[in-house]
Amino acid sequence: MFAYASLQTEVVNPILVNIMRKIIKVNSLVETTNLAFNIGKLLKGGEIIELISDLGGGKTAFVKGLAKGMGSDDEVSSPTFTISRVYKAGNLELHHYDFYRLHHAGVVAAQLAESVNENHVVVAVEWGKIVQGVLPAHRLKITIRSTGENSRTFVMEAHDEKHKKLIENL
Ligand SMILES: Nc1ncnc2c1ncn2[C@@H]1O[C@H](COP(=O)(O)OP(=O)(O)OP(=O)(O)O)[C@@H](O)[C@H]1O
Ligand SMILES: [Mg+2]
Repeated sequence: MFAYASLQTEVVNPILVNIMRKIIKVNSLVETTNLAFNIGKLLKGGEIIELISDLGGGKTAFVKGLAKGMGSDDEVSSPTFTISRVYKAGNLELHHYDFYRLHHAGVVAAQLAESVNENHVVVAVEWGKIVQGVLPAHRLKITIRSTGENSRTFVMEAHDEKHKKLIENL
């Protein structure tokens, strides 16, 4: 069983907002990949994962692990220039968006709106600030903080049962 450098679980204001929050610290890229892989294995379609970090925080690295966990053989690379990429994983698809270069979401926001409504699609979004209106409130929000060259702190927040299931047994 893979062990994380440290793991903390909190239920925040359980009565008012009922968010599940997990804080996981990793010390290497391999640990990030393993963490994402473990979540990827649980994906069934319909999940929305928003990744938030500074440049080079590890959002794309995390998506690589997710795709592997879903059983995809497709090569994952940053969609910074293509804005979106699709990876096949059995009956599922992983739709990977990166809005870093877009100042007007426009047609890509419409494409994202379609992706989030597909049952067989898992959506992963980097730099999603300009599409907050399109992203459903029910999603897994992952904030990655760089704490050293190879160490990262992942703060994961789930607001609904579907997404809580992804992080409850990490
Ligand atoms: N523990 C770690 N987790 C993730 N990445 C790590 C870790 N340690 C080192 N790295 C390195 O940090 C970089 C992360 O790059 P990545 O492209 O995944 O970041 P990003 O958040 O997608 O950046 P961008 O905002 O430019 O899209 C890679 O070079 C990776 O090797
Ligand atoms: Mg990236």
